Amino acid sequence: MRVVVAPVSSFSDGERRIVDVGGRSIGVFRVGESFYGIRNRCPHQGGPLCLGHVLGDAVADAPGQAAVVSDPLRIACPWHGWEYDLDSGQSFMGAAMPGVRSYGVDLEPGGALLERVPGPYVAETFEVRVEDEYVVLHA
Ligand code: FES
Repeated sequence: MRVVVAPVSSFSDGERRIVDVGGRSIGVFRVGESFYGIRNRCPHQGGPLCLGHVLGDAVADAPGQAAVVSDPLRIACPWHGWEYDLDSGQSFMGAAMPGVRSYGVDLEPGGALLERVPGPYVAETFEVRVEDEYVVLHA
């Protein structure tokens, strides 16, 4: 199932949106020019994972030269802090721990969306326009 989340122009760097897809709550994140989709249900005890902080790793080549790198990006559950890879959903709490479901997110031009679906194509509260580009979740 493809879900048009928003026009790219209205989805800011660092923003997240949580959408309901057939009863599944899924978070869509923008970090720089990359987009990620991940289930909003923590495998630990069902917490609202997508409300947690997005984290990078701090690395340093020498004392006083620390930098934060964003590969891999992690998301920390707001309930107990368990962390997951924002891209793959892999758990950072040990190899035996379950990961969280992740989903593909693409950018597609409005014209391509309109070609595949007959009739006017409306998602949630906005109309798809040929000249705009959209964030599309594959769920
Ligand atoms: S419910 Fe997410 S860490 Fe416990």
